[in-house]
Amino acid sequence: MADETPIVTPATPAQPQKPPAKPAADRLVMITGATAGIGRAAAEQLARTGCSVIVVARDPRRGAQTVEAIRNASGNDNVELIVADLSLMQDVRRVSGEFAKSGRKLDTLVNNAGVKLAHRTVTAEGFETTLAVNHLAPYLLSRLFKTNLAGDGGGRIVNVNSFMHRYGSVDLDDLQRANGYSELNVYSSSKLLSLLATYALARKWKPESVFVNAYNPGFVRTNMSGGGIVGVGSRIFAKSPLSAGQGLAYVATSPQVEGSAGGYFQSTGRTKPSSRKSYKEALQTRVVQATKSLLADV
Ligand SMILES: NC(=O)c1ccc[n+]([C@@H]2O[C@H](COP(=O)([O-])OP(=O)(O)OC[C@H]3O[C@@H](n4cnc5c(N)ncnc54)[C@H](OP(=O)(O)O)[C@@H]3O)[C@@H](O)[C@H]2O)c1
Repeated sequence: MADETPIVTPATPAQPQKPPAKPAADRLVMITGATAGIGRAAAEQLARTGCSVIVVARDPRRGAQTVEAIRNASGNDNVELIVADLSLMQDVRRVSGEFAKSGRKLDTLVNNAGVKLAHRTVTAEGFETTLAVNHLAPYLLSRLFKTNLAGDGGGRIVNVNSFMHRYGSVDLDDLQRANGYSELNVYSSSKLLSLLATYALARKWKPESVFVNAYNPGFVRTNMSGGGIVGVGSRIFAKSPLSAGQGLAYVATSPQVEGSAGGYFQSTGRTKPSSRKSYKEALQTRVVQATKSLLADV
């Protein structure tokens, strides 16, 4: 005789319903370094997809021209400007203050502005300039914006990094490079510091639905890659700012990226592993601590 005991399937706990990803066109995106190169191309692409875009630029005239050009090219009038020199942490704090006054929530913060400087310079606040623009400003802007990032479907932060981080080193006793300065080493090291901090914040903030990722644009023909032997190579081998900018806009807004944190995204929209040292959690923690103490007085 057949066993007629009813089959009882164990009750599965109801899965929390994840809100649908916000369409790219409904996003409010802030992007730094959009007056030139990769950032300029990304900002235009974002405006073309219908996003509202806030451009952060240090030069008021170049900033206004950029906004006007992006509005004209995209047909999207929702492009605005905040003027700030990101080598100055006072200005970084002002960006966050100005935005907070508007009462809006930001969907994505794109930390793209960057410099590679032949000679060591120090800002009015006493920071070596490459460290200030490439690492301290993105870190501080991210911290200040965390509470302004929208919670519905998640807020995003994209930090533009570089394959050059592989050649960087971390000297916690001389983050300001007072002892020995070489353009490529200081640039690479600033990107390594930024990547270590990116991964630390990604891990910490993911449970709060703030998703932090890095973006490696590859070798791109821009002002930064011009000049010297690298400039010759860039004219032959480098990709266009357009494709790197489109990749950046994708990571900033695509529903496909929803929920990812701690990724090292490429311009293809896929992730790849970064250097082994960038994943060392103890080093990430030490870099975050050192960064916090550098920023404590400004
Ligand atoms: N090009 C490459 O091959 C390559 C490769 C890997 C990673 N990257 C990264 O990609 C990002 C964009 O670089 P890019 O190649 O597009 O260089 P770029 O053409 O030189 O553009 C750099 C942007 O950053 C802005 N900026 C620099 N210092 C600033 C400051 N103190 N305050 C505010 N804005 C500032 C510049 O503004 P101004 O117009 O005022 O100068 C410009 O808009 C950087 O983070 C860079 O490290 C580039």
